[in-house]
Order: sequence, then C-alpha cells, then structure tokens
Amino acid sequence: MNGRQRKRLAERLLAWYACNRRDLPWREATPDPYRVWLSEIMLQQTTVAAVIPYFKAFTERWPTTHDLAAVDLDDVLHAWQGLGYYARARNLHRCARVVVDERKGRFPDTVAGLRELPGIGPYTSAAIAAIAFQRPAAAVDGNVVRVLSRFARLDTRAEIESLAKTLVPSGRPGDFAQAMMDLGATVCRPKAPDCPACPWQADCQAHAADRVGAYPVKAPKTEKPTRHGVAFWLRRADGAVWLRKRPETGLLGGMTEVPSTDWREPPWTAAEARAAAPIKAPWRALPGTVRHTFTHFHLVLDVWAADTDLPPNEGAWSPPGGLGNYALPTVMKKIARHAIEQEGRQGELE
Ligand code: ADE
Repeated sequence: MNGRQRKRLAERLLAWYACNRRDLPWREATPDPYRVWLSEIMLQQTTVAAVIPYFKAFTERWPTTHDLAAVDLDDVLHAWQGLGYYARARNLHRCARVVVDERKGRFPDTVAGLRELPGIGPYTSAAIAAIAFQRPAAAVDGNVVRVLSRFARLDTRAEIESLAKTLVPSGRPGDFAQAMMDLGATVCRPKAPDCPACPWQADCQAHAADRVGAYPVKAPKTEKPTRHGVAFWLRRADGAVWLRKRPETGLLGGMTEVPSTDWREPPWTAAEARAAAPIKAPWRALPGTVRHTFTHFHLVLDVWAADTDLPPNEGAWSPPGGLGNYALPTVMKKIARHAIEQEGRQGELE
C-alpha cells in the first residue's frame, strides 16, 4: 500500500465515523486529558456499556485530577466496586497523585511520558496521546486487532501493530483511533460482522476471500482451572458480620473480604477447612455453593456460617445493614447474598 492509498483509507474511515460514531460521555469536541485518561483506564478489559455509569459517577463526584488525588484510596475502591480488575483503581489513584504532586496536575502529552505513569501500558498511552493530545499514535486494542487482521489477513500481533502505525493519519489521530474502535465494535464485530456497512469492505482481503470468520486467528485456548475454597460467614448476635481487608498486593488487593481459606485446586475437606477457619466455632455448612470466574480461574466456594461474639483479631464487625459501606468486590457480594439467602436476613446488602 502506498501513502496515497493509506490516506484514502483513513479518509473513508473518518467519513464513516462522522456519521456513525457512538455518542459516548468521554467524547468531547475539546477532550479533557483527565476524562480521556479516566475513560481509557475504565475501558481496559471492560465493555463500553459497563463503563458508562461508572464514568458518569466518577466525573460527577471528582471532576478533575485534583479532586481524585485529594480523596482516600478507600473512597476510590468503593466507587470502583463492581467494575472489576481492582488494581486499576489503585493505580488510578496513584496516577492522579503523581500527576498532581509531581506535574502540577498536567498529564504528559507524549506516548513515552504517559507510559511512565502507574496503570498506563502501551495501548493506553497510545490512546490517550492520540485522543487527548492529537499525537499520531496507534492504539491497538482487541477491536483494532480484529479489524486489521481481517483487512490484510494478518496472523501476528507484530504485523498488525506495524500496519496500524502506517495507517494513522497526521491530522485527527484521536478521531482515527476512536473510529477504529467503533468500526470494530459496531461493524467488524467478532460474530456476524456487518460487511456491507464497512467503509473498508472494497479493500478487505478477508472479505474478498470470504474468510472473515477465520480472523483474528485465535491462540489455542488453555482451559481455566477451577479453584476451591471455604468462606466463613461469622455473625454476632446483633446481626453484625465479620469482614477484613485483603492484603494490599495480589488479586483484589486492598479490598474488603469475607474471610476464607486459600483458593486452591483440590477441594477442602471439612477437617482442613475447620483448621483453616479464623476461629474455632460450631460451623454450619450452608447449602449450595458460590461461583465466580476470574481472568485466570473459576472459583467455587462453600460457605460456612457460625454465630460468635468473640472480637476478631484481624478485621472488624460490619454493623447490621452496613455492608454497602465497604469496597466489596462482586465475589464477596455473592458470598454475602448467598449467606443471607440461606440464613434469612434480607435487606443486608441494600
Ligand atoms: N475502548 C477503549 N477506548 C475506547 C474509546 N475511547 N471509545 C470506545 N471504545 C473504547
């Protein structure tokens, strides 16, 4: 492809975008780097539909980097509840503080400068540089991989990235980046792509060969392992529930949890679980299990309940009806809901 052909492709995509762009709350005539950054962090591994309400809530509550940097991490984790991949929320908060404390509240305006900030990798730095600062950077996410692997029948990430770089126009690189994302999300969809609606159909090699369904070439899938654990639902006579904070690093780092055994592949025997329980108590195994899927494994939890008035040596009692005040990740809400359903204490999670 020569320069002229590349230019024509970019123009056709931008013309398509002008008529078909999705109206999203972070898309503004004059992009605010804070809002672009926040949206791109939220959109990592997460759908646009899931992100929209969180983006609106965050920007209403914390309209600027300074506002976000000024609050406690726990407030951010709490507001992030349900969005998943909580390391993002921790890095988000760290990043806001770095930008405020070390950069007078201004985000770097280059790919390399952005890349140095917490939570910003190759994709996100390119997306922010293009959208917020009009840098001609290629932001290659899953959508873009799909579009370009089909367009030129490419198999490898390296080939796709190098094609992506050559296509970015020097004018309107931010619109170009978002047009690629929209094309992938709404036209060049994983299943049932709408080829007749595509501005690139005439040049698409997979379409010409009637092989659109064969791209992107999938890496062989590795089966997710299933891990098992036992969660301990400890209640005080007044209905308070015992919660504790997870270690700062690792999965769900710093989030509040219902105490549990380790999560491991072999299921726990009752004797093992009793030995691993936070206190000695007359435990009752509740009927059923709680299931949750993380990126790298499925989790199946038994839930054991006991009544106690012993003060826990680690963690704290959450007063009756107070679970909503904690940064509880989805799996912990599932445990609470399950225990409440099995034990009959409605209203606790509201
Ligand atoms: N996915 C990642 N970034 C996006 C954006 N800016 N618009 C739409 N989808 C996206």
